[in-house]
Amino acid sequence: MDSILVKGNGPLNGVIPIAGAKNACLTLMPATLLSEEPLTLTNAPRLSDIRTMTQLLQSLGVEVSALQAGKVITMSSHSDINPVADYEIVRKMRASNLVLGPLLARLGHAVVSLPGGCAIGARPMDIHIDALAALGAEIDLRDGYLHATAKGGLKGAVHEMRFASVGATENFVMAATLAKGTSVLKNAAREPEIVDLVACLRRMGAEIEGEGTPTITIQGVDRLRGATHPVVTDRIELGTYMLAPAICGGEVECLGGRIDLLSAFCEKLDAAGISVTETANGLKVARKNGRVRAVDVVTEPFPGFPTDLQAQMMALLCTAEGTSVLEEKIFENRFMHAPELMRMGAKIEVQGGHATVHGVEKLRGAPVMATDLRASVSLILAGLAAEGETLVSRVYHLDRGYERVEEKLRACGAQIERVAGH
Ligand code: EPU
Repeated sequence: MDSILVKGNGPLNGVIPIAGAKNACLTLMPATLLSEEPLTLTNAPRLSDIRTMTQLLQSLGVEVSALQAGKVITMSSHSDINPVADYEIVRKMRASNLVLGPLLARLGHAVVSLPGGCAIGARPMDIHIDALAALGAEIDLRDGYLHATAKGGLKGAVHEMRFASVGATENFVMAATLAKGTSVLKNAAREPEIVDLVACLRRMGAEIEGEGTPTITIQGVDRLRGATHPVVTDRIELGTYMLAPAICGGEVECLGGRIDLLSAFCEKLDAAGISVTETANGLKVARKNGRVRAVDVVTEPFPGFPTDLQAQMMALLCTAEGTSVLEEKIFENRFMHAPELMRMGAKIEVQGGHATVHGVEKLRGAPVMATDLRASVSLILAGLAAEGETLVSRVYHLDRGYERVEEKLRACGAQIERVAGH
């Protein structure tokens, strides 16, 4: 297992290109199951989660080819599709559940392994099941697998979700594109990745309105066609790299960055004393003088502060002037980075869904362990600002969601390298 070695080395200055969004690509790829014609995604990120989704689609009978070193993915579901998503692949990545809606729409039945819990929470599937049941699917759990059947095909319906789940919105919208009649999803999630999915489905001939609002209306069509679609910018990778100069000082331009993808996050950076300006090619982030100010953060569904940036924001607030409170409202167990940051000298108290961070002047390097994707990158950010060396182990989590992280940070003057086999 590889580790990442980071040495605190002063301000960062330079330019970082932001990749296409992992979480958009992971829902755009299963959309290929909705059409017999090829779907091509450009601006795809090169990540292990994308390779896992590739394996899953291939196991279902989809032909997948990667061009331009993985930046372009072409998929074709023209041949017979196998309805079974096997536990061996699904257990590696929860987003595998995004084949459920498309398989049901395409075949009228699907057998998809339950993903199981993960480090950040139990993450049940009840909202997905209720949403697809509203479209006429009968779903039962047998031997760890969801067996879903829609005799006579899916039928349009009005459904309100109990919580605006991102994945359940994606499954419902994809399934409803081929259902008979009109479907309306209320309390839908509004994340940019859903807006991107709808833009792609529309290119494929779907009739959808209201994406980015809490009510999405889908008019079912008989068939969808092939399309080519560019994956939206990864707002979480963007926010992560915006925090690098915020933590270390300096000035970094993030190419492809957009404030509208991260408005709540940008407001918090502003309150902390970090300057964010729009440039012709993205966003420029700078911290010139002095310590950052403490700010309170509550994670919420979009357009609120993203849970996927909470760990990285905590790394920033560890050295802020004053006390900050972070409240995690999306996942019940997403503070596993706090004890690791404390090994670096951070002063944090965690109680239930709240973490209180008392800013210290400096963190000190230490060996630490990554527990999940966003936690791992928060430890790297903290290490960049700490005195001495930080060795982050278990970085396979990092490779799920960040491409070429060492290269991108090194280009701005960071001292960071991968150490094989730790
Ligand atoms: N939930 C349920 N029942 C369900 C579905 C969700 O109780 O049927 C709960 C979850 O347990 C969680 C909350 O609802 O507490 C939010 O879950 P949601 O379904 O919105 O999240 P998701 O679709 O599983 C996506 C991202 C996550 C991101 C969340 C929230 C993908 C592939 N994953 O997950 O990304 O944190 O939305 O924004 O899109 C990451 O990239 O590090 C990551 C974890």
